[in-house]
Amino acid sequence: MSDAPAQRFEVLSLFPELFDDFAKVGLMGKACANGLIRIDTKNPRDFTTDRHRSVDDTPYGGGSGMVMRPDPLVAAMEDFDREAAGRGEPRAHRVLLTPQGRVFDQGCALDFAEKPAIMLICGRYEGIDERACALADEQLSLGDFVLNGGEVAALAVIESVSRLIPGVLGNAESLRVESHEAGLLEHPQYTRPRVFRGAEVPAVLLSGDHGAIERWRRQQALLRTRARRPELFASLQLDAGDRALLEGAEQAEEA
Ligand SMILES: C[S@@+](CC[C@H](N)C(=O)[O-])C[C@H]1O[C@@H](n2cnc3c(N)ncnc32)[C@H](O)[C@@H]1O
Repeated sequence: MSDAPAQRFEVLSLFPELFDDFAKVGLMGKACANGLIRIDTKNPRDFTTDRHRSVDDTPYGGGSGMVMRPDPLVAAMEDFDREAAGRGEPRAHRVLLTPQGRVFDQGCALDFAEKPAIMLICGRYEGIDERACALADEQLSLGDFVLNGGEVAALAVIESVSRLIPGVLGNAESLRVESHEAGLLEHPQYTRPRVFRGAEVPAVLLSGDHGAIERWRRQQALLRTRARRPELFASLQLDAGDRALLEGAEQAEEA
């Protein structure tokens, strides 16, 4: 068995250089440098067999734009699998980035963080030949909009999954209270100065009363989620304490 990282990402992209700087900066940089995370890239162009190193071709049946050929892409996918097997590491879970996939969310990030390796397949042009798409374990979208390529989506997946890997964030507590961790948006945050352009930091945060601060934060998270993401709010299981916090806010508003 090799010295496997806690999480390995295998990226297939025509622009692998986009991932180089990303793996060097901030918390990602530290996690890669200390071996917690590894980002390996392959360019399907390196798996072409023709003189022009073609990765795309015109669509059968006609139509505008070009489509990514399946042969170089699948050869690159299989090369990743072969290398992993050679190191005694498991084959990566294959994720195809596409606007047609299920929409990525925190639940999906948590699910990926449990897997030892994730392969992220980035399309370009008009997309990827369906026969290569069929070899992915799942298809994932960053949201209901269309990007030029899958790289930005892959970067978002890598960053959101990596910060769930133990040791990547300096302060694991910040994960617990973050937006979407408990189906809630996070409470508002404040730092210095105490007064900024006439707007004061809420007095409770300066009170030193930790119980009151916790209650205020929970109340603000509930109010914010209800106002901004009613569909998330509707799926919350509110307990008596939460209902009291909401009633308290309504009474304060009426007063
Ligand atoms: C211009 S898009 C192709 C869109 C495709 N013709 C369609 O309508 O479904 C090129 C590539 O960008 C990536 N992409 C675009 N939008 C995306 C999204 N919302 N989420 C994830 N990947 C996306 C995919 O990898 C896709 O193959």
